[in-house]
Amino acid sequence: MGKLNLSTTTQNNSNLESFFQQRVDQFLKTHIKSNNIIDESIVYALEAPGKRVRPTLLYLVSDALTLELDHADAIAGALETIHTYSLVHDDLPCMDDDDLRRGQPSLHKKYNEATAVLAGDAMQSMAIEMLLDNQHFTEKQNNLLAKMLLETIGSKGMILGQALDIEYESREANESEILLMCELKTGVLIEFCFLAPLMIADASNEKWERLGKIVGISFQLIDDLLDLQETSENLGKKSQKDIIRNKKNYPISFGEKKTVELLDAYKAEANNLLQELNLDEHYLSNYIMNLFDRRI
Ligand code: IPE
Ligand code: IPE
Ligand code: MG
Ligand code: MG
Ligand code: MG
Repeated sequence: MGKLNLSTTTQNNSNLESFFQQRVDQFLKTHIKSNNIIDESIVYALEAPGKRVRPTLLYLVSDALTLELDHADAIAGALETIHTYSLVHDDLPCMDDDDLRRGQPSLHKKYNEATAVLAGDAMQSMAIEMLLDNQHFTEKQNNLLAKMLLETIGSKGMILGQALDIEYESREANESEILLMCELKTGVLIEFCFLAPLMIADASNEKWERLGKIVGISFQLIDDLLDLQETSENLGKKSQKDIIRNKKNYPISFGEKKTVELLDAYKAEANNLLQELNLDEHYLSNYIMNLFDRRI
């Protein structure tokens, strides 16, 4: 498949977004067969209407680096599978204890807790298999991507972020601790959407890396603001829940005003970086700017 040559002037934004959503959904459909209770529950979680932010970012960064979109399909599928597993475990009673996810009962409510734990475990294996089986790259590239993803989601990455999030429920955390927690529990997987295509294209530089980092941290800061400001119906998950669980997120600890100011600064920085990377005409810029303004 050729390049999309995405440009903000020629593409209808919502069509393009649903194009990427359908693309990753199609990949997942062909890779996950519902043969047993675990597979069935995985399909339940994956088919629910998530925003598919990580696959969309991955496709757009890939396109901006002139990589083929079909080469990115397995990475997009792996990212969405890992993200969905993280939500399934995040919702468990021993974690955030949430009954509603993506507008439907959380996996442990629809099935049971053991199934939710096991489905999450299986989704991790599944995602790594997707990367290792990618026929579009060399074995060496697949191994590098798998290693990179494993580091991202492991005990020095996403899992550490989740552990800190739970630890801070029972102790105070300062500003740098909270920002590090945001980066680890959510930011690093979003950063991976940038770093993976950069690695394949051998195009990494400080501007791209910084862009991935601030988009990732900002995504969690916005999630924390939306928890305070939006309805459960709009979000498809319970809102106003972080205060009740004594979470130490940024707006709860430092106020909504300071959070919005920090996000404005990150948004302006992201905009500058996109211009410096000559991406202001690429739909990636549009998509990232819209992420800063999202209400779901
Ligand atoms: C929610 O992620 C949890 C965080 C990591 C902040 P999303 O807002 O991307 O959730 P879905 O995938 O659209 O359900
Ligand atoms: C979730 O953060 C982060 C991960 C799942 C890694 P939250 O706990 O804030 O996400 P929501 O609000 O439940 O979607
Ligand atoms: Mg959580
Ligand atoms: Mg949660
Ligand atoms: Mg949240």
